[in-house]
Amino acid sequence: MKVGFSGYFAKQLSNPHGFLGSRFITRMMNQGNEELEYFGLELMNINGDEHILEIGFGNGRIMQEMNNQLNTGKIYGIDISDEMITQTSKRLKADVNSGKIVLGKANVEKIPFDDNSIDKAFTCNTIYFWPNLEKCAKEVMRVLKQGGTLYCGFREKEIMSRYPFVAQYRNIFKHTMTEQEVKNLFEKAGFSKVNIQVKKSEFVDSYFAVATK
Ligand SMILES: C[S@@+](CC[C@H](N)C(=O)[O-])C[C@H]1O[C@@H](n2cnc3c(N)ncnc32)[C@H](O)[C@@H]1O
Repeated sequence: MKVGFSGYFAKQLSNPHGFLGSRFITRMMNQGNEELEYFGLELMNINGDEHILEIGFGNGRIMQEMNNQLNTGKIYGIDISDEMITQTSKRLKADVNSGKIVLGKANVEKIPFDDNSIDKAFTCNTIYFWPNLEKCAKEVMRVLKQGGTLYCGFREKEIMSRYPFVAQYRNIFKHTMTEQEVKNLFEKAGFSKVNIQVKKSEFVDSYFAVATK
């Protein structure tokens, strides 16, 4: 099958790799996702001693901000991209070396943590790529402590439909959802309380599902 530029680009967003992944894609993620990620950070209201899991941390920008708000707490990051693990390990070298930040290669569908071990889980712009929505939502819930919260940032279905590469590469962008569909997903997975928070913007609105176990 012939894969044109938009196919290559879609693949890079779901799993950045190689020269393009290390240079341009991460720079693009930085600019495009900044507002969304910072909205999520605000919602998290981090306490200094929490154990936080970030799924699909990309270049680790928001993880760095989370880390600044932690005292005795710890951050665990998982991503499927070797390139992102290498970059983020370099970026957060001191805290990775001290063990305050632990990074590893893993897929959201099989999170390498014990049940009930995480206070807060954060993920932004990854849900489109999840291999199986309900299974992955349940997997995140499994590792959260009772009363723990997932913060899941996404662009709404209508916004995603404006990007031609999303429609063209449905095999990569498997799930684009309305806010109601995201709410239903986490409720069906068993979260006890799910709210969708929206931040309006001149350019593109930011959405976060806040789901409590
Ligand atoms: C579009 S980027 C978003 C990065 C960052 N969260 C942001 O908002 O800027 C998607 C990230 O999720 C990772 N990813 C994609 N599918 C994943 C999966 N199934 N499990 C874990 N990480 C995944 C990719 O490697 C990439 O780093």
